[in-house]
Parts: sequence; structure tokens; C-alpha cells
Amino acid sequence: MKLLHIDASALGAYSVSRGLTAAVTAEFVKNHPGIEVTYRDLHAAPLGHWGLPAGENDPAAAEGAAVLEEFLAADVVVIGAPMYNFGITSSLKAWIDRIAVAGKTFQYTSAGPEGLAGGKRVIVASSRGGVYSLPGSPAAGMDFQEPYLRAVFAFLGVTDIEFVRAEGVAMSDDHKTQAIGGAIASIGGLLRKAA
Ligand SMILES: Cc1cc2nc3c(=O)[nH]c(=O)nc-3n(C[C@H](O)[C@H](O)[C@H](O)COP(=O)(O)O)c2cc1C
Repeated sequence: MKLLHIDASALGAYSVSRGLTAAVTAEFVKNHPGIEVTYRDLHAAPLGHWGLPAGENDPAAAEGAAVLEEFLAADVVVIGAPMYNFGITSSLKAWIDRIAVAGKTFQYTSAGPEGLAGGKRVIVASSRGGVYSLPGSPAAGMDFQEPYLRAVFAFLGVTDIEFVRAEGVAMSDDHKTQAIGGAIASIGGLLRKAA
């Protein structure tokens, strides 16, 4: 079993999502002792923006191919996704631009698009300063982070996607502590579901 652990926060030790992805990964390691973990820090080692290969030995294209192979090989993908300006970080977007590849993770058929990367489990650790999850609230319409990730992975054929969410972390210290505690507490249930 292979787990790909991705972080994209720029806040280092202050990051909420980094703590959550570490906790999710640790829980998988505890439950699946032989699991092989690959780690990618998209902030510390940002990927170049997608572009046409500059030639046969283009390092950016080679890196993109390696990123795609890592994704394809993973049974479980744990993604730290902070909300930045209502969407995801540009570092995570650059990663998505490398894994959404026609003929590899999706294809167009006469019946429309078809995802080719099914059979994996994706767990997103979502962190955000405000609260967006209350149904019917005006803020819900400004969430272009979680619905975007749901849409992208559905497009790639991933039907098993779950969110571990800490939101409202900028509202107060108490709120932040509660939000992180709630998110951490939900991880056990997520893993039990898989057993
Ligand atoms: C550049 C930047 C933009 C942000 N934009 C938003 C936003 O649009 N909405 C929001 O609720 N929080 C926003 N935040 C707050 C972050 O979502 C929050 O701090 C979250 O914990 C970030 O994840 P991290 O702690 O893992 O880095 C922003 C933070 C930064 C640094």
C-alpha cells in the first residue's frame, strides 16, 4: 500500500493543514504498518508552472512526469489544502496541473470526459480562516477551495474523497483550538471506515 502525503501551506510551524496531514498520515501508518509513504512539500520545493516541454531533457517536464507517476502509484493521497483568497494555494494548483494529464488521468470520449485515476482514496486536510460550511450562509458561495478539489478529483475518476476540515481558525484562539480539535477527532472515524 502506498500513501502520497502532500503539503502546500506557506505558514511552516504555524500551519494548521500541515498538522492535520501529519495526523492523518500517522494514523494510516499506525493502522497499516507496511505502508510506503512518499512526501512532497509543494511550498518548500515548488513545482514549475506547466508549459510545453523545452526539449528532450527539460527538467521541468521530467519533474512533472515524476509527480504524475507518484500520484498514479498512490493508493491513498493525503493533501494539505489551505484556503488562499477563496481557492487553493498556487503551489497546489501547479501540482494539479501536473496530475491532470489527458490520456493518463482522464480522457475525452464521444460520450464526454472519463476519469482514469479511480480506485484511490483522497483525503483533503482543509484549513481556512473563516467559516464556509454552514449550509445557506453567504460565505458558502465563496468557497472555491473544497468544491474545486471535489470537481477536479471527480473529473479524474476519484470517487472516494473526504475532507478533514478546520475552519474559522482566524476568528479567535478558542475557535481555532476547537476547530483543530474537531478535525483531529474526526480522523479516527475516517480510518475506521476504511477497515
Ligand atoms: C495569503 C492568504 C490568503 C488567505 N485567504 C483566505 C480566504 O480567502 N478565506 C479564509 O477564510 N481564510 C484565508 N486565509 C487564512 C487561511 O486559510 C488560514 O490561515 C489557514 O489556516 C491556512 O492554512 P495553513 O494554516 O495550513 O497554512 C488566508 C491566508 C493567507 C496566508
